[in-house]
Amino acid sequence: MAEFNGKTVLITGGGSGMGLATAKRLLGAGARVVLAGRDEERLEKAVKELDAGEDVLAVPTDVARTADLDRLVERVRERYGSLSGVFANAGIAAFSRSADVTEADFDHVVGINFKGVYFTITKSLPILEDGGSVVLNGSWLTHKGLAFTSVYAATKAAVISLARTLASDLGTRGIRVNAISPGYIVTDMFEAVAGSEEAKEEHRGHVALGRLGSAADIADTAFFLLSSRSSYITGQEIVVDGGLTTSVPL
Ligand SMILES: NC(=O)c1ccc[n+]([C@@H]2O[C@H](COP(=O)([O-])OP(=O)(O)OC[C@H]3O[C@@H](n4cnc5c(N)ncnc54)[C@H](OP(=O)(O)O)[C@@H]3O)[C@@H](O)[C@H]2O)c1
Repeated sequence: MAEFNGKTVLITGGGSGMGLATAKRLLGAGARVVLAGRDEERLEKAVKELDAGEDVLAVPTDVARTADLDRLVERVRERYGSLSGVFANAGIAAFSRSADVTEADFDHVVGINFKGVYFTITKSLPILEDGGSVVLNGSWLTHKGLAFTSVYAATKAAVISLARTLASDLGTRGIRVNAISPGYIVTDMFEAVAGSEEAKEEHRGHVALGRLGSAADIADTAFFLLSSRSSYITGQEIVVDGGLTTSVPL
């Protein structure tokens, strides 16, 4: 029997990048997946690409809006009844020097990357099965300070904190909560920030393994944390960065 048979996993930001790669990986192991994101066209394209019929449900959702999350949870309840896992992966990157950050910029990033993650989980709790698994998406930027990222990095630090506090909170139901902190992973988000060949080469030079990461590298880790292979791991952060934050490349 496939490892995720009979299991349903919600993936926010499931229409692209790491979220979509994780959806593919889970479907391959027999799961049903729910993709949530704002852009309907992007979701439709992802559903087509996944080509998994009734095993995929796409629900247009802005995670910064709790009313959207209520609707999302209701749709999942109607279609599949419950969830065995949640990958709270949706996020945006917005980079500028701290002196240039406006209140609106601040609220926008915090609204999606922290509030959005927080309520994605708490709104899912009524349909999340006991013994389920929650995976959050952090960032290597919580380990090294970088100008331009003050708000973004703080939201990701908050996400890592949530993995620990919610592991305590939800442990009574056997629900595990862990975080992944990706390094340089080539997705739309990365391309928007460092898409040129020169920029990629420069970033590669900081990675001990000498290559940029792929969405599949993160999907493999999300798969592990969502599966029973990690059944005694909770409150942890796994940094998936090719050695970016720990080791000097030769
Ligand atoms: N790529 C990297 O190098 C890197 C490194 C560290 C951490 N991360 C984190 O990894 C996660 C996934 O990013 P990615 O690299 O896979 O980039 P991506 O392809 O841009 O994925 C981000 C996803 O989040 C969704 N999203 C953004 N705002 C949303 C909102 N308000 N409501 C619902 N969905 C929303 C986007 O869909 P819509 O626009 O359609 O809503 C998109 O599908 C993010 O949390 C990011 O911060 C990325």
